[in-house]
Amino acid sequence: MEDLQKLESEIVAAITACEDLAKLEDLRVAEIGKKGRVSLMMRELGKMSPDEKKEFGPKFNKLKTVLVDAIADRKAALELDALNARLQSERIDITLPSRPAPEGSIHPITQVMDEVTEIFTEIGFSVAEGPEIEEDFYNFTALNIPEEHPARQMHDTFYLPEDEDGKRKVLRTHTSPVQIRTMMAGPPPYRIIAPGRTYRCDSDATHTPMFHQVEALVIDKNIHMGHLKWCIEEFCRKFFELDDVKIRFRPSYFPFTEPSAEVDIGCAFKDGEILIGEGDDWLEIMGCGMVNARVLENVNLDPNEYQGFAFGMGLDRIAMLKWGIPDLRDFFAADLRWLKHYGFAALDIPSLSTQNKTTGSK
Ligand code: PHE
Repeated sequence: MEDLQKLESEIVAAITACEDLAKLEDLRVAEIGKKGRVSLMMRELGKMSPDEKKEFGPKFNKLKTVLVDAIADRKAALELDALNARLQSERIDITLPSRPAPEGSIHPITQVMDEVTEIFTEIGFSVAEGPEIEEDFYNFTALNIPEEHPARQMHDTFYLPEDEDGKRKVLRTHTSPVQIRTMMAGPPPYRIIAPGRTYRCDSDATHTPMFHQVEALVIDKNIHMGHLKWCIEEFCRKFFELDDVKIRFRPSYFPFTEPSAEVDIGCAFKDGEILIGEGDDWLEIMGCGMVNARVLENVNLDPNEYQGFAFGMGLDRIAMLKWGIPDLRDFFAADLRWLKHYGFAALDIPSLSTQNKTTGSK
């Protein structure tokens, strides 16, 4: 009988030195597999006398346990090494910043709507909406533009085909119908703006069949033209980012306001460019006035109790002015080069509260 202790240290040494899972398996089969060296030796136990069995049985069992454990430990260690090696080789660096340049941009119309909304909500206005396919009543009649009124021709209206009731809806020619909808929806006071699309059958470098306006309506018991003037001046200062903008109120006529005015902004035409806040030229940016008493009556408000002002401003026009965009038609041509040039970064969100200056990427 060989010295079991010596045998044990020999095999354990071989296991510990083994560097490879396949070789470890070979070793396991050769030593403690069914026909392995240790297993064969254990079979010899059968031939031994009871006393010898008593002595060697436990020794063999202990030897086998030691070897099984040593192989299991070595196997675990080799597997761990293999896993670590694989993790190392397949490692990816996730700390790199994303590299593709930001794609897409905010259209100047969206930008101008966001900026206008930011400025007016800051001074207490809320935002109202109305449909682009509008009833004749809201677009004209309730605004004191009766059936035969010449102002209907002025508007170059797109009419829709007659519906079941024999009525023809229109593509709204201005955002003023939202005034009526707002006043019919609930009691005064009102302090709203309504930005949105408008339509007129007209097309050249400064007119497109679809364009944008923002309407404003303020009605309460003591509103006067001074409030209107302040609101417009304050808006122009903030929007054009100028402390000193020249504004001119020119008497005008709208059926739904009395008195009415058109607002011009002071500018200079220089080498085909328009510069706001300089020079002696004027550019019209909106129509405005005190809401006509007849309009108030049309929505069942008492003009002796309530009064207020309204204005309607061309959003495309003020975008062209602010960012020096020469041709209105390009706004809606969906030309990627134009959009890249005049578009705004998606995260350049207009905010007065943080005093961010919003500028084009041009
Ligand atoms: N709706 C008028 C237009 O489109 C503008 C306007 C609105 C004028 C409100 C006065 C008051 O021309």
